[in-house]
This record gives sequence, C-alpha cells and structure tokens, in this order.
Amino acid sequence: MATPEYLRVTAPESGVLTIELYRPDSLNALNTQMLEELSAQLQRAQRDDAVGAIVLTGSERAFAAGADIREMAALDTVGVLKDARVGYWQQISACRKPLVAAVNGFALGGGCELAMQADIIIAGENARFGQPEIKLGIMPGAGGTQRLLRAVGKSLAMQMVLTGEPINAEQAQAAGLISEITPPEFTLERAQSIARQIAAHAPLAVALAKEAVLKAEDTDLASGLLYERKAFTLLAATEDRNEGINAFLEKRQPHFKGR
Ligand code: COA
Repeated sequence: MATPEYLRVTAPESGVLTIELYRPDSLNALNTQMLEELSAQLQRAQRDDAVGAIVLTGSERAFAAGADIREMAALDTVGVLKDARVGYWQQISACRKPLVAAVNGFALGGGCELAMQADIIIAGENARFGQPEIKLGIMPGAGGTQRLLRAVGKSLAMQMVLTGEPINAEQAQAAGLISEITPPEFTLERAQSIARQIAAHAPLAVALAKEAVLKAEDTDLASGLLYERKAFTLLAATEDRNEGINAFLEKRQPHFKGR
C-alpha cells in the first residue's frame, strides 16, 4: 500500500494503531484523497490481528475543519451524486474494530461527522464541535443530521445544524457527544490509554459488543435485546470466553487468542 500523503500512521503499539489526519495548511480539511487513505488504512487494520483498537486524531488546532470546501466548490449535482467520498464514508463506518477519536480544536462539518464515526470521543478543553454547513447554503451530508441527533438529542442537534454555531467541549460532554475532557496536550495519550485497555480484551467479544451497542441506534428495544442475546450466546463457543472465565477463577491474567 502506498504511503499516505494526508495521514501519519504509527505502527501498532500494544494493539493500538494511531492515525493522525495531517493536512496542516488547511486545518485537516477532508479531501477525497484523505478519506480514501483513511478508508484504506481502516480496512487494512481490520485484517491485521496486531490491531485491537484504532485511535484517530488531528492536530492541536484542528481535528478536521470539514469537507474540503475548495474541492466541493467544483462539484455540481451530478458530481455530488457520483462523488467517491460517499463510498469512503461508508467504508469508514463499516470498521468493525473500535475507533477512539482524540479531538482537539475544530471538529466542524465533516470533521464532526468523522468524530461521530468513532465509538468513543475524548476531547481537549479547546475542542469545538459544529455543523456549519448551513452557513455555506448547504447542509450536513455525511451523518451530521442523523448521528448528531442520536448523540445529543433533537433540540441541540437542530440548534447546531440550523444556526451552524459550534459547541465547546463542556457542552459536548453534557450532551453526551463525548465521554471525557482533557487538557489538549493529554488528549491523544488518554485516547491511546483507553484504546490499549480495549485492545487487551478478547477481540471477538470486543467486536460483537461494539456491534451490539451500535445496533441499539437503529433498532427497537425488543429486537436489540434479541440481537444482544444471540451475540452473547455466540461468544460462549469461543476459546477466549473459557480463557477469560478460567483466568478469573484461577486468579491470573487471561491470555486471549482471538479465537
Ligand atoms: N476546506 C478547505 N480549506 C479550509 C477549510 C475547509 N473546510 N477550513 C479551513 N480551511 C483553510 C482555510 O481556507 C485557510 O487556508 P489559506 O491559509 O490557504 O487561506 C486555512 O485552512 C486556515 O483557515 P483559516 O480560516 O484562515 O483559520 P481561522 O482560524 O481563521 O478559522 C475556521 C478557522 C475553522 C473557523 C475556518 O477555517 C472555517 O470556518 N472553516 C470552514 C469550516 C466549515 O464550514 N466546514 C464545513 C465545510 S462543509
């Protein structure tokens, strides 16, 4: 695979792959190539047993300031309909391994939508989450009306989408969009620490648990509970389940194999 131009990727450490969005001259604006590179990296991580969890981050000034407006300006309706980015967004959201976002600075438009693709968001005190598309005469197009509503509720989602004004880290935490706030210099470290904890667990249990929690977003309670029960039952057939329980009973650390 070619070395990415707009990402900095760190080799997996303790099961954690770190991907940094890297387009400093435009506040990490998401252009097609960057999304393609990100999608490819996530697909590769998916196949790599050395990766148990992925951390996605940006710079201290910006996680990502949205879709690349210059690139967007060149597209008419047919161009938008045929836009390859739609496929990359779908591939990113299909990642089965846990994704932890470490967000500092601006997470606007596509940047906010990308952060919301993560399973866990850790944000620096300077983080700003927003969907400013309305100010450009457009609207969110990569989950900003759907995932935001599920994350923060109707009133705040409407306010953000219709005014275009961002919220700060404290508001984001109060609304449930993010789970923790850190000083900006520790955001990445904290996200990596959480990712390491996840990566130390049995991979199949982690994958099915992630899938079950996500299921709750698009199903009714009875179907969700049934889905959870099936996944729980499936795990009873894994070697790692026996190892986890035996290790507890024998008062030792488990050694999971992903089987
Ligand atoms: N697409 C393309 N370029 C972008 C960008 C985007 N979404 N966001 C920022 N940039 C570029 C700017 O054009 C500027 O480039 P230049 O130095 O060549 O002029 C550079 O990044 C720095 O941005 P700048 O606006 O000078 O920084 P700032 O601190 O004054 O403002 C923001 C920061 C995030 C408030 C402002 O850049 C902004 O509003 N960006 C657009 C956010 C947006 O609408 N996103 C949704 C897009 S659908």
